[in-house]
Amino acid sequence: MKKIIIAIDGYSSCGKSTLAKALAKKLHYVFIDSGAMYRAITLYFIQHKIKTHHENEVAEALKHIHLAFEFHPETEQNNMLLNGINVEAEIRNMAVSAKVSEVAAIPAVRKFAVAQQQQMGRLKGIVMDGRDIGTTVFPQAELKIFVTADPAIRVERRFKELFAQNKNITIEDVKANLEMRDYIDTNRTESPLRKANDAKELNNSNLTKEEQLNIAYKWAMETTHQK
Ligand code: DC
Repeated sequence: MKKIIIAIDGYSSCGKSTLAKALAKKLHYVFIDSGAMYRAITLYFIQHKIKTHHENEVAEALKHIHLAFEFHPETEQNNMLLNGINVEAEIRNMAVSAKVSEVAAIPAVRKFAVAQQQQMGRLKGIVMDGRDIGTTVFPQAELKIFVTADPAIRVERRFKELFAQNKNITIEDVKANLEMRDYIDTNRTESPLRKANDAKELNNSNLTKEEQLNIAYKWAMETTHQK
């Protein structure tokens, strides 16, 4: 069967990665969480105290960043490697979450990440989730899915996830962080988050993970057979 590119975009914490990962597994495709790349770059900037408004400093820092994904068959986890080190846990913490939208809005950072993402898709057979995958990274993707969920449901899901790792987190912190990220992601000049004209919308507020996977899988099958 011919392989396609599947682009999954949407707001923070609406289940994009869960869907993308499950869909990739079912199709035997590669799964790429593009947000993890922006998070790893942000972690590097924090560790090296890079001033995000300083163009030369950002350009120099990017030269020292090597990103790669390493698949672990036992955990079925695609771990993010920053300069060879597994940073999968660290990139999910609040310090990174609080700064990642600011870093992801820098044009040089986007250029750096997008070039690598496009390279990863050259053989097709890929499911990539993010904010601009259907609009900028793969405007030619055969299937584009725009995932949405009610804001209150997104906050609750994200809170549960973070509380499991850190009992000091409050629901107010999570709500404020999501609102801030939505605002920056939607209003930035460079590749703002928006639904591609040819994307199919999937509101998963009242869907189980299996139900949303079944819908997306059906779309993937229909698209593959049309191509
Ligand atoms: O999907 P996520 O929440 O892990 O993404 C982290 C941040 O990275 C998010 O606030 C916006 C940014 N991002 C982006 O600008 N473009 C992408 N393709 C993916 C993520």
